[in-house]
Amino acid sequence: MDHTTLDPQDWEAFRQTAYTMLDEALNTMMTAREGRVWTPMPAEMKEALNRELPSQGIGPEAVQEKISALLPYGVGNTHPRFFGWVHGAGSPGCLLAEIGAAAMNANLGGRDHGAIHVEKQVLEWCREMMGFPEGSSGLLVSGTSMATVIALKTARDQRLGVSCRAEGLGDPGLVGYASAQAHSCLQRAFDLLGLGSDALRPIPCDPSFQLDLGALKRQIHRDREQGLTPFLVIGTAGSVNLGAIDDLDALADIAVEEELWFHIDGAFGATAILADDPAINLNGLDRADSLAFDFHKWLHVNYDAGCILIRSAKLHLQAFSGRAEYLQAAGQGLAAGNPWPVDFGPELSRGFRALKVWAHLQEHGTDKLGAAIRQNCAQARYLGSRVAASPDFELLAPVLLNIVCFRFTAANPGELDELNQAIVIQLQESGTAAPSTTQLHGRLAIRVNLTNHRTETADLDLLLQEAWRLGRTLGETA
Ligand SMILES: Cc1ncc(COP(=O)(O)O)c(C=O)c1O
Repeated sequence: MDHTTLDPQDWEAFRQTAYTMLDEALNTMMTAREGRVWTPMPAEMKEALNRELPSQGIGPEAVQEKISALLPYGVGNTHPRFFGWVHGAGSPGCLLAEIGAAAMNANLGGRDHGAIHVEKQVLEWCREMMGFPEGSSGLLVSGTSMATVIALKTARDQRLGVSCRAEGLGDPGLVGYASAQAHSCLQRAFDLLGLGSDALRPIPCDPSFQLDLGALKRQIHRDREQGLTPFLVIGTAGSVNLGAIDDLDALADIAVEEELWFHIDGAFGATAILADDPAINLNGLDRADSLAFDFHKWLHVNYDAGCILIRSAKLHLQAFSGRAEYLQAAGQGLAAGNPWPVDFGPELSRGFRALKVWAHLQEHGTDKLGAAIRQNCAQARYLGSRVAASPDFELLAPVLLNIVCFRFTAANPGELDELNQAIVIQLQESGTAAPSTTQLHGRLAIRVNLTNHRTETADLDLLLQEAWRLGRTLGETA
């Protein structure tokens, strides 16, 4: 009988194809500084993707060529002048781990195998890095959005009692609190968890863009008076607009007084703990009941890799454990190793993203990763001071961490929003740089986020020079 296998017929030829692919990947990373930042995919390439589901294969060599052809059309975040949103720059070392992970093809839902032990070690390092106590639990996930869902479900189930997992929520009246500058993934988690996004109360910020503690207390008391049940307060360590870090210590105190779960969204800011910089106040980070953060942002592990840490492994398990018969653990053999990762999150099958994190931390060490973070903060201060010194630009907010929000002002005041939007689009489309935009106090800002180990001072000079040139040119033609 004919045997069907997906393994190559000619392993030597496949090996050569794999070497070619590796070369292409290395060349892409080695030349990350060169050329355009963002290159939109040409229309004919988009059209070429639009093909019927293939019933006949074309073989690995032809596929390798197709993959290589895609390499120039990333978002641009490997380039030193990518400044948009909060994207990490990635690093070549992760290629090695990704190859290893693909070769092992491990499923990290559970069982007793090498990959599970690597993830456990990574989580142990995370616990140590963030100052969480021994016995805390965690999971590597796709990113902070998923980490948040896991944290908030644990908090919800703790408050409602574990029976809500089977019986549903009824009308829980649970409400939680986060700063008005907090990330939208929090509202999405409230929505996904059946609490309704309105149950997350946005608390105004004080002039330093931190959650206003007095306003928080007043809102908690108002909600209690109305018969609602406050259950959660969220601190932001590094807000997406400005990099503001809430007063985490004070929030931890309020959480204790008011008997609330204290979650921290530390997507990128929590990793600034490695910078070991007294000016970055993360005091209280280690007092959280749960902490979400990413490796793919300021630590430059290639996408995707995030982490959830939960102080009480017992509560974490209560929120997610429970397995079908075919997944029961054994005392020994391959099914040993209880509890399994599936007991700590919603996914059963999971890839080996822990490998690239484990490899990355060992390749670079936390000192160097911290130095790259310090470098970005110094660069943000430099850019901020250049903007502040220029008569044609205006700084729209203080530089708090690694983000600079500003705009070109030497034009008709009524048209500044449109003009600055146009500057950003032109910078992106010309391939020169890729900042993004945000709104601050109702004004459009050019937003420069520095989470990029490849950025040098000259890149910031070029950005400002081009933004100024475009401001002048576009302002005149408006
Ligand atoms: C403060 C903050 N929280 C949460 C997120 C969401 O993280 P992820 O994209 O890893 O899900 C981001 C993304 O930029 C963020 O900046």
